[in-house]
Amino acid sequence: MKFTLILAAAASIVAAAPGAELVQRSTTDQLVARAAGRNKFTKPNVRIPKASNANNTEVEYSGNWAGAVSIGSGYNKVVGTITVPKVSGSRGAAASAWVGIDGDTCQTAILQTGISFYADGTFDAWYEWIPDYSYSFSGFSVKVGDKITMEVDASSKKAGVAKLTNASTGKSVSHTFSSSSTPSSLCETNAEWIVEAFQENGSQVDLADFGTVTFTGASATGSSGTITPANAEILDISPDGGETVYTSCSASGSTVKCTYTG
Ligand SMILES: *[C@@H]1O[C@H](CO)[C@@H](O)[C@H](O)[C@H]1NC(C)=O
Ligand SMILES: *[C@@H]1O[C@H](CO)[C@@H](O)[C@H](O)[C@H]1NC(C)=O
Ligand SMILES: *[C@@H]1O[C@H](CO)[C@@H](O)[C@H](O)[C@H]1NC(C)=O
Repeated sequence: MKFTLILAAAASIVAAAPGAELVQRSTTDQLVARAAGRNKFTKPNVRIPKASNANNTEVEYSGNWAGAVSIGSGYNKVVGTITVPKVSGSRGAAASAWVGIDGDTCQTAILQTGISFYADGTFDAWYEWIPDYSYSFSGFSVKVGDKITMEVDASSKKAGVAKLTNASTGKSVSHTFSSSSTPSSLCETNAEWIVEAFQENGSQVDLADFGTVTFTGASATGSSGTITPANAEILDISPDGGETVYTSCSASGSTVKCTYTG
């Protein structure tokens, strides 16, 4: 079954994804409507000087994305390793951490893979090529403390691989997208390391307290070679353009760090 999602380009948060018509296919091939790109605000993006981090002089607020976005060209590979956090929060609260290509200034596609954390202690390891929904990897049961390397590698703007690897054991799962099945073309202009309050069942989840998520070994390969997120744009999650802020993220060297601030 094919769904068409309207991408939320500079639209309101509620417009990001349909949900009521979602079906669960099976436990190993599960459809989850994850956020269709970054939710921006209807007013221009808010940029506020972030004095505490000399390398990232401004922060931008998003309704659903926290982390780092490098804007460039020819990005075809993004990697980063996280340690799976213990999360808490109200019933249904959740967050996901992922690496990806596009979805910020390029609103037509995202190739991404990551892990969702739920306040009930469960996890979901997934891959996605927006505007299709995300699919869960099977046979990859993540738990708190696992070190997981995330990688997306686009062989063209219409094809690529999403891969998660247990950094302790080398065990990996991957999904190959072929050009005949991808629902959109990448722009290859955004490389991302993101913690997200994603969409599920038609609405944005309450952001769980994820403590700190740190992407280490973060890099992106683009047309000017391999870069780190050191000079990336930093995003924090705020539902109201910066009055209430739920995260504090920074990037330095090949590390992107996001802390839940409540
Ligand atoms: C989404 O719906 C499914 C099926 O009803 C449910 O198991 C799951 O907990 C819901 N997710 C959230 C975040 O509420
Ligand atoms: C990763 O490796 C660790 C150490 O062997 C193991 O405890 C954990 O269950 C593994 N997780 C996955 C998802 O393979
Ligand atoms: C800025 O970047 C340099 C070089 O990567 C690093 O040594 C330094 O710690 C960074 N400063 C901050 C405040 O993150």
